[in-house]
Amino acid sequence: MAARLVKSAAAAFFAVSVIAKTNNSSTCRYIPGDEGWPAKSDWEQLNQTVGGRLIATDPQAHVCHTPTVDKAACDALKTPIDWHGAPPLYVTRLNLTLTQWDQSETYIGKPAETMDTYYQNQSCDPFTSTSRPCELGNLAVFSINVSGANDVIAGLQFAQRKNVRLSIHNTGHDYNCKSCGPGSLSLWTYNLKTTEFIPEYESSYYSGPAAKFGAGMGLGDSLLFASQHGHKLVTGECGTLGIAGGHSQGGGHGVLNGAYGMAADNVLEWELVTGEGEHLFVTPEQHADLYWALSGGGGGTYGVVLSMKVRVHPEGPVTGPVLTFTAPNVGNETYWKAIEIFYKHLPTIVKGTSNSIQFTFWNNNFAALFAFLDQQTSSVINSTMRPLLAELDEIGITYNITTEKTSTYKDYYNTNYGPLPYGLESPSTTLTSRIVPEWVVVDSDANAKLVDAAKLTTESGLFQVDCTSSDFNRSSHPDNAVLPAWREAIVACNLLAFWDWHAPLSKNLEVKSTMVDVYAPAWDAATPGSGVYLNEVDSSYKGDFKQTMYGANYPRLLSIKHQHDPNHLFYGHFTVGSDEFTTDGSGRLCYDGL
Ligand SMILES: Cc1cc2nc3c(=O)[nH]c(=O)nc-3n(C[C@H](O)[C@H](O)[C@H](O)COP(=O)(O)OP(=O)(O)OC[C@H]3O[C@@H](n4cnc5c(N)ncnc54)[C@H](O)[C@@H]3O)c2cc1C
Ligand SMILES: *[C@@H]1O[C@H](CO)[C@@H](O)[C@H](O)[C@H]1NC(C)=O
Ligand SMILES: *[C@@H]1O[C@H](CO)[C@@H](O)[C@H](O)[C@H]1NC(C)=O
Ligand SMILES: *[C@@H]1O[C@H](CO)[C@@H](O)[C@H](O)[C@H]1NC(C)=O
Ligand SMILES: *[C@@H]1O[C@H](CO)[C@@H](O)[C@H](O)[C@H]1NC(C)=O
Ligand SMILES: *[C@@H]1O[C@H](CO)[C@@H](O)[C@H](O)[C@H]1NC(C)=O
Ligand SMILES: *[C@@H]1O[C@H](CO)[C@@H](O)[C@H](O)[C@H]1NC(C)=O
Ligand SMILES: *[C@@H]1O[C@H](CO)[C@@H](O)[C@H](O)[C@H]1NC(C)=O
Ligand SMILES: *[C@@H]1O[C@H](CO)[C@@H](O)[C@H](O)[C@H]1NC(C)=O
Ligand SMILES: *[C@@H]1O[C@H](CO)[C@@H](O)[C@H](O)[C@H]1NC(C)=O
Ligand SMILES: *[C@@H]1O[C@H](CO)[C@@H](O)[C@H](O)[C@H]1NC(C)=O
Repeated sequence: MAARLVKSAAAAFFAVSVIAKTNNSSTCRYIPGDEGWPAKSDWEQLNQTVGGRLIATDPQAHVCHTPTVDKAACDALKTPIDWHGAPPLYVTRLNLTLTQWDQSETYIGKPAETMDTYYQNQSCDPFTSTSRPCELGNLAVFSINVSGANDVIAGLQFAQRKNVRLSIHNTGHDYNCKSCGPGSLSLWTYNLKTTEFIPEYESSYYSGPAAKFGAGMGLGDSLLFASQHGHKLVTGECGTLGIAGGHSQGGGHGVLNGAYGMAADNVLEWELVTGEGEHLFVTPEQHADLYWALSGGGGGTYGVVLSMKVRVHPEGPVTGPVLTFTAPNVGNETYWKAIEIFYKHLPTIVKGTSNSIQFTFWNNNFAALFAFLDQQTSSVINSTMRPLLAELDEIGITYNITTEKTSTYKDYYNTNYGPLPYGLESPSTTLTSRIVPEWVVVDSDANAKLVDAAKLTTESGLFQVDCTSSDFNRSSHPDNAVLPAWREAIVACNLLAFWDWHAPLSKNLEVKSTMVDVYAPAWDAATPGSGVYLNEVDSSYKGDFKQTMYGANYPRLLSIKHQHDPNHLFYGHFTVGSDEFTTDGSGRLCYDGL
């Protein structure tokens, strides 16, 4: 029954015309103001088709701009974050006043918003003058509040028939506006909140406990759900991220990677609607090409995901030592030597184990949080740490170690990345990533060069380096499209500076340029042949996006994209196939490929 509906929907797709010519040299999607832009009656008809679930975008910061000023509501957006105690070090160091606008919780659950400060582009934020008009900028014009496959199919058909740009939006975390898009109709999947615990999932590739999550579930809520059933699951450290959107489709790094693989490695099935309007359930055995591509090949590229099934793992205790040291009491040279030693010992601590380390450093301050899973005794943990600590002792650096043991992973997560479900991690950053291969930290010359790149990055005091270290190639999993560089990596690092709302845009853009033109190339040069994490790369990144974000998987991913999105509905900056599109002078998205 479902299959028949699907077939007819797909057939209807082929019947409609290709992208209209609005430009003599290329085929472009219409934008508001174009003669071809759908009429009010067309939108009303679409709204009827989707049961009244069509939403016209009204940016949330409109309350800060004439003619719709609401002072109390605007002040609420600018209210400083309550840190539930002492603020984190990065806040005190930089004397930051982060507000609700810098909190991801402010953006989720609202259609079309983007958290990315660069793409917000002052179109409608609380910090520009009240008299400045609130504009859509890069945000979608309309969203469909998706409740199931039929809404998605209706949206895809409308976009294709009416020649309107399409976007797929879940939470708005994306750093490359892949979930926004000027002039677009957005498929907003955030309200797909179903959950199901599956005590015994059976297949040739996995037998054991699993969970099914609707695509709108957040990481924090998914984790709480698994925990209620005595289990944990692989996620990143920001509870507001969507479980089935960009995070799991793009790879997904986090504390549990060494124990169970990356987030994408844990997915057992995807439920999606393809660009042709086919409603499919894909596994390593059924529509295996789509399963392979969706598991690591990037969000928003191969289809609209409605739900996924994912492995879950028994709950258990975590021991989490925190190691800190500072430069002032030892001098800069010893400080950087200590960081070199720290990188060098990552393999001795995480390789071939379920251990992981997340660490952050500035030009004079270093902090690492370890995660030792399950019942590792303190003597085992001591002996794991000993080679590192012995070498730190040798250079005469004093450090602090405190150890906290939590009885569950949920408690560990809540303590360090909470409060659950959302946490307080701020998206208001200028950020880019680099994946560091194991050989680089082991080879002393290469390691020294890596640390030089880190020194350069942090020198001015503006940037910090945030790293996550695990054995990213430990868990067995079905073949997938996770960037191969992850499998050779020992650590992935983000270079990160905070957005300054009180400085002119140009000042923030300078920070971005310095990162992209000076720091990122130094990290690239220190890690030749490796890659960047497609979910945490800056939009102006200058490296070859195909090689660094997809590697050897690119040609196969592109052919799968072409096969399942023959009408070129799916586009995002740096997604597979994105170089077949251009943007014209007025902001229309144009398809130039083939
Ligand atoms: C504050 C912060 C912390 C982060 N921490 C981590 C971390 O710890 N680990 C980690 O791995 N990453 C982390 N990231 C990066 C994160 O994984 C990406 O931003 C990811 O793309 C977010 O996915 P989303 O679906 O929540 O966001 P969105 O911005 O809504 O979407 C991201 C991409 O996925 C696509 N997409 C969304 N929903 C669907 C759907 N239903 N079907 C098909 N495509 C869809 C969109 O089109 C877009 O291309 C972090 C990002 C931020 C801003
Ligand atoms: C396309 O239009 C531009 C002006 O908009 C003109 O300069 C150019 O010659 C045209 N090209 C073709 C192939 O018609
Ligand atoms: C769609 O219809 C619903 C219900 O009639 C209405 O509330 C909503 O405003 C409509 N959306 C648009 C964009 O007009
Ligand atoms: C910190 O910022 C506040 C307000 O943003 C300012 O008043 C104060 O002078 C700053 N302190 C320092 C030490 O720069
Ligand atoms: C920001 O807005 C300016 C002016 O409208 C525009 O030129 C620029 O391309 C925009 N940048 C982004 C990233 O949208
Ligand atoms: C979207 O739909 C859900 C129900 O699926 C509803 O609870 C929610 O209020 C809707 N959101 C908006 C902004 O219309
Ligand atoms: C260790 O912690 C104490 C107390 O918090 C602090 O005073 C001291 O400076 C720290 N030492 C180092 C080397 O970080
Ligand atoms: C582990 O090391 C710490 C200090 O380095 C020490 O206090 C503790 O007793 C050790 N524990 C075991 C079980 O060896
Ligand atoms: C140590 O490094 C800091 C930060 O980069 C710098 O400001 C300071 O001058 C350096 N100190 C010495 C003695 O080189
Ligand atoms: C990753 O693991 C697989 C399976 O154990 C192995 O075949 C492969 O060589 C490993 N890759 C790297 C880069 O170590
Ligand atoms: C046509 O497309 C070209 C290339 O994308 C662009 O430079 C030009 O401005 C467009 N012309 C019009 C009239 O939109």
